Amino acid sequence: MAQDQGIVIRRYRGGDQVEVLSLFSRCTLGHIRPAFLRGLRQTDNVGLALGVAVAAAVLSGGSLWAVAGACAAWVGLLLFLCWEVYAGYVRERLRSDMGDIEAHFLSHPDDCFWVAEAEVASGSKVIVGMVAVTRWSGEVAEGEVRGHGEDEGVQERCREGESERERPEQEEGKVAQLFRMLVLPGWRRRGLGRRLAQTALAFCSERGYSRVILETTTTQVAALALYSTLGFQKTATSVPYLAMHPARISVLRLEKPL
Ligand SMILES: CC(C)(COP(=O)(O)OP(=O)(O)OC[C@H]1O[C@@H](n2cnc3c(N)ncnc32)[C@H](O)[C@@H]1OP(=O)(O)O)[C@@H](O)C(=O)NCCC(=O)NCCS
Repeated sequence: MAQDQGIVIRRYRGGDQVEVLSLFSRCTLGHIRPAFLRGLRQTDNVGLALGVAVAAAVLSGGSLWAVAGACAAWVGLLLFLCWEVYAGYVRERLRSDMGDIEAHFLSHPDDCFWVAEAEVASGSKVIVGMVAVTRWSGEVAEGEVRGHGEDEGVQERCREGESERERPEQEEGKVAQLFRMLVLPGWRRRGLGRRLAQTALAFCSERGYSRVILETTTTQVAALALYSTLGFQKTATSVPYLAMHPARISVLRLEKPL
């Protein structure tokens, strides 16, 4: 187990589930507000709001209530779309990989799910961060991965309870996907995100991965800054959901060779 500043990074255990799911939901839903504010500032959205206001004024014969109502409806729609992007993602992930972390992230030696556990003043322990790695398979979207965990240094942390089943794929040129990099607000900017990422990257090197891929969104500026300092580079941009267009949210794929 890696320990620094009283925070231990260790392999996920079944008893962590409630805290991990709550951290995952809270941190992901935390992107709604910045995405909304970013969307409001987009020049074309400002233009659209003005257009809606003018149309409402013309159609209502100059009623201020109609103008205010139309603008409020446009702002409400933007907020709803931002909410839908991230809340929809949480719903989908809780039904899939996060619904069974052991099966999806800990049933193969090439995969792992770590939590960062801190001891707080009362002496109790709280989970304040997480990160996961699985093998990436070409067309599979974020999160839709099959199970596998390990690490001496890194290996010890992921050995307990792992299955020894073998993968049928070739071991050469294998690519890892990094997931669920989250740090609880209040524990950020203390180097924990970097430690979690380094733990995952060291694991990937030890497991013989040649490259690490991850996906994030343009709203996640802290994550983008962190990944940039770790040497990740953008390789693709996409807007997979209609709801992302008005809010100008894009999914970015980042990669780092090992
Ligand atoms: C991204 C995240 C995990 C970073 O965790 P963290 O513990 O705050 O990161 P660190 O303290 O290790 O920061 C490492 C470096 O990342 C960059 N960074 C982190 N947060 C930043 C921010 N808010 N603004 C700008 N740069 C930031 C800095 O370069 C920082 O180094 P420095 O502190 O020496 O300047 C955290 O902000 C988070 O959980 N965000 C929400 C969830 C998320 O978007 N996860 C990514 C999923 S793809």
